[in-house]
Amino acid sequence: MMELIRRDGLARICRLHTRRGELETPCLLPVINPRLITIAPRELYDTFGFRAIITNSYIIRNDPRIREDALARGLHDMLDFPGVIMTDSGTFQSHMYGEVDLINREIVEFQRDIGSDIGTVLDIFAEPDWSKERTAASIDITLERSREAARLKGEMLLAGVVQGSVYPDLREMCARRLSEMDIDVNPVGGVVPLMENYRFSELVDVIVAAKKGLRPDRPVHLFGAGHPMLFALAVLLGCDMFDSASYAKFARDDRFMFLEGTFRIQDMKALECNCPACTGHDLEEVRALPPAKRTALIARHNLWTSKMELERVKRAIMEGDLWELVERRCRSHPALLDALRGIGKHQHFLERYEPLSRDHALFYTGAETFNRPAFLRFRKRLIERYEHPATEVGMTFEEPEKPYSRTLRPAMDSILAISDAHFQVISPFGPVPIELDEVYPISQSLFPKDRDQQTRERTDRMAEELAHGHNYKMGAVWDGEETLDFLKMFSQGSGGFDIDMARVRAVADYQFGKGAAEALLDGKVSLVKSRNVDRIRNVLVDGEHVVSMRAEDGFYTLKLAGARRLLKGLPSPHMRVVVQDDSVEFNRQGRNVFCSFVTDADPEIRLQDEVMVVDKNDALVAIGRAQLTRDEMLCFQKGVAVKVREGA
Ligand code: GUN
Ligand code: ZN
Repeated sequence: MMELIRRDGLARICRLHTRRGELETPCLLPVINPRLITIAPRELYDTFGFRAIITNSYIIRNDPRIREDALARGLHDMLDFPGVIMTDSGTFQSHMYGEVDLINREIVEFQRDIGSDIGTVLDIFAEPDWSKERTAASIDITLERSREAARLKGEMLLAGVVQGSVYPDLREMCARRLSEMDIDVNPVGGVVPLMENYRFSELVDVIVAAKKGLRPDRPVHLFGAGHPMLFALAVLLGCDMFDSASYAKFARDDRFMFLEGTFRIQDMKALECNCPACTGHDLEEVRALPPAKRTALIARHNLWTSKMELERVKRAIMEGDLWELVERRCRSHPALLDALRGIGKHQHFLERYEPLSRDHALFYTGAETFNRPAFLRFRKRLIERYEHPATEVGMTFEEPEKPYSRTLRPAMDSILAISDAHFQVISPFGPVPIELDEVYPISQSLFPKDRDQQTRERTDRMAEELAHGHNYKMGAVWDGEETLDFLKMFSQGSGGFDIDMARVRAVADYQFGKGAAEALLDGKVSLVKSRNVDRIRNVLVDGEHVVSMRAEDGFYTLKLAGARRLLKGLPSPHMRVVVQDDSVEFNRQGRNVFCSFVTDADPEIRLQDEVMVVDKNDALVAIGRAQLTRDEMLCFQKGVAVKVREGA
């Protein structure tokens, strides 16, 4: 069973419950070859802090001495490792070194009998160059074996491998079938050749296809991924576990792993590394070490580099800058840059997991930043949810200092004095209606002052779309006094555009969906503003406090009175999370909604959305912030679905 603790999009920090206790993900499982131990498992546990390793049951089973030892003492005693031990089935060996007489039932039972915590099905490794027919036929066998293994696993957790070569539909289908079985971990398999040949863009497609078909409450293991330069990207796409034989294999080859790539000691001119293994050594010293010692030092370096990168990735999940980290990491190698660009194809899928806002501002790192789902989200909501005020003139501004509405105040006032106008700003997100200038990520984003060509082209293109698509009687681009003179000739009278009221309405629809403003603001609206900065704090309707506006991200915090109005005005299941009767009292008292009590939810709910917790009769129970998507709420057995702020 898995519990989600923190997340950013598909990336997540989870707790996997095993009989050896809890395993925190994302995590790396160093591969232990029981016949050739480079770093002792005990050292991995005590010194490095690895809480899980992976070893190969096929190697153990094929060596009579080790086999008897494992059966007699159990894996943990034999390897002297107190943490979680996962075993692989021998799929990879039999695939690489020719068919061996392996039987799924026997190898699964063997893993169970030697006390493996997570055993693996004997899946069929489908190569990237296999035909679709051959791949499909092999998946049938993999699925049948997975079904058989699920019956045999006993107390052991079972890893059922998603195969499907490079065919997204087969990957997704295989993942869906596995999700119906009693399986605990879902590795994505058959990807080693993609990684070895730097086909990272295809790797992205494979991971996304698998994620689409997998249940969200199971950890996803990227089989054979052990290079730290891949971790950030793979975690961003929802991978939770990795295994590395590379740390030892590369070390035996005198190769150091860095976030920038892998380098041979012969080619290196200096060893600039402060990891615990390298500290105090220079390159000449390492070169002069006897081979076994050199291999051990490089292996330790490789493990520290991997470990530190996973810690960095976890920090990024908590702080909300994982996209920035991934974009930096993907500049280590052109093939990773291809992968980053390839993510653009999957924007619509990623948007479903895109939070309403983040603590961290959005930093532009290059043209690939436009692939982030935050850009798609803004454009999509503008089209689907935003309604232009019916003014005569639509005035467009070049992008000024943020927040736009404050910088443009004097210009807007002079325009409104002579014409009935509304205002937009041309930004890298597309045209931004002035009243939405403070919602995430418009205000909370940073671009270089000197705009690159892609940004300029993109901005110009979207400005042009606006010029063609608007429904004002007249559109104009602000050019100072000249524009005022021009307006004086054409327009009759002054404008009544009230940015505060427009903001209150636009944010409601943008955040809660079309029709929300009407439902929420039906009555006499009054605003409480902060005294020192001219900013909306609270919105009252007929004297009732319905929402507060957050300074950090420009969105609303819902109050009970506001929730009641939205419930009345927006049909079910809009913005609702439905809970079972036995949860109702609990949540009314202000306590969080746990997944196991959720019976349904709006599929349009996004992470960090303000939601209404209701009972089966659609009566308000509480308000709070969604921590999961609908599918996740319905799937997870454990963990918080809605962080409740106020019970009704
Ligand atoms: N190790 C690396 N790739 C694979 C795979 O596809 N299946 C199994 N069982 N182990 C692997
Ligand atoms: Zn080092």
